[in-house]
Amino acid sequence: AQANIGVVGMAVMGSNLARNLASREGNTVAIFNRSFEKTQTVLDEHPEAEFIPASSYEEFAASLSKPRTAIIMVQAGRGTDAVIDALTSVFEPGDIIVDGGNALFTDTIRREKAVRETGINFVGTGISGGEEGALLGPSIMPGGSAEAYETLGPILSSIAAVVDGVPCVTHVGTDGAGHFVKMIHNGIEYADMQLIAEAYDLIRRGTGYSPAQIADVFTEWNKGELESYLIEITAEVLKQVDASTGTPLVDLILDQAGSKGTGVWTVQNALDLGIPVSGIAEAVFARSLSSKPAQRAAASALPGPAEPWGVDNNEAFIEDVRRALYASKIVAYSQGFDAIVAGAEQYGWDIKKGDIATIWRGGCIIRAQFLNRITEAYAEDPGLVALITAPYFTAAVTGAQESWRQVVAHAAKAGIPAPAFSSSLSYYDGLRADRLPAALVQGQRDFFGAHTYKRVDKEGTFHTLWSGDRSEIQAVDSH
Ligand code: 6PG
Repeated sequence: AQANIGVVGMAVMGSNLARNLASREGNTVAIFNRSFEKTQTVLDEHPEAEFIPASSYEEFAASLSKPRTAIIMVQAGRGTDAVIDALTSVFEPGDIIVDGGNALFTDTIRREKAVRETGINFVGTGISGGEEGALLGPSIMPGGSAEAYETLGPILSSIAAVVDGVPCVTHVGTDGAGHFVKMIHNGIEYADMQLIAEAYDLIRRGTGYSPAQIADVFTEWNKGELESYLIEITAEVLKQVDASTGTPLVDLILDQAGSKGTGVWTVQNALDLGIPVSGIAEAVFARSLSSKPAQRAAASALPGPAEPWGVDNNEAFIEDVRRALYASKIVAYSQGFDAIVAGAEQYGWDIKKGDIATIWRGGCIIRAQFLNRITEAYAEDPGLVALITAPYFTAAVTGAQESWRQVVAHAAKAGIPAPAFSSSLSYYDGLRADRLPAALVQGQRDFFGAHTYKRVDKEGTFHTLWSGDRSEIQAVDSH
């Protein structure tokens, strides 16, 4: 028998994806790993899956029906290039190489271009959902050519998560589009996690509830508009008690958050695109701050508020935090979709925003009920300039904003860091402001650098002769 799909890389993500593929009607899966040992382990541990193992790239290529289609699941980076080189040397024009790792989208653009020159298709695809998602049904964000998607689409649809009968996969756009969208997904994931962490911290320090009690709060929240995978697992983590000490596990975990880079990439690229992704940026910075033990120790004697700042009514406070979380989450998504729109424009991708929200409803880490509202917002108005201005989201922040202000004020007065909550609120207030102090910044720029300014009352570009008689002259626009 020949395989219709192959997987390279038998670490946990690769083997789980291969098992997922093998479990679906119509797929026969070839598997390959640099060292055969790992392949053998997968074969031994999963006799139920009818894999075609290969011990060389030649054998792997020979076991695949044409057009040969292989998904690379190796650690993103240089390893990926080595596998691509090996596959291009044994594949033929028309075959399809898929990179399912968390590659940086600019690498994907580069690789796609190079592989295309050989006549082979290259598809960079985002795959979200962690190990369990890979096995049971992830959310899949493929880029690449439409031609490649004709072969690949049905295979990916067969393994993706399904919500309301719709598989969580769509052809995102050409070359790096899929990995770009996966990067933004991860950025939003960072923001969502940080917001939840701040909500937990505010509740814990405001009410004195135990982690187990707060777990119940999150379980309750998960029945409403915040319903999502991240809220659900937060309750699970908070409930966990360390077996040896009987202490809540969360109190024993070192409070220094790590990262593998996708959140940083999101912010770096948003900076280049000129898109304020402040919620995501604060989440990335919060992880960086947490991971500076020497600075934190040195600063630990700095004073907090002189007066303790308490909560009068626990239930009312918790409800305020819930609303603040929802409003801040809307900001994070609104910013994330702004980055998608800007990236699509910059790199020439035709990305359907509503479809992205649809494929994020299941399988991925940020899966949530709320994504349906995003799909609806873009269906109603495909040219929506900011998600937060869609009627549904406007109504949601209108209902939440007083609570949001209370919570941010509480955090400031109580000396509890809430960078994502407060920057999201500032973004909201900045966006809705009639006038911004950017006017003054323009004045300052013109003063020291003759950077010029525009006026609200007449056309043209102007400069004030600050070091002369301070009269104003028409100037050439220098931005
Ligand atoms: C997913 C996840 C996953 C990724 C981490 C990275 O969508 O399944 O985003 O791709 O491994 O979550 O996160 P860190 O940067 O926090 O390690």
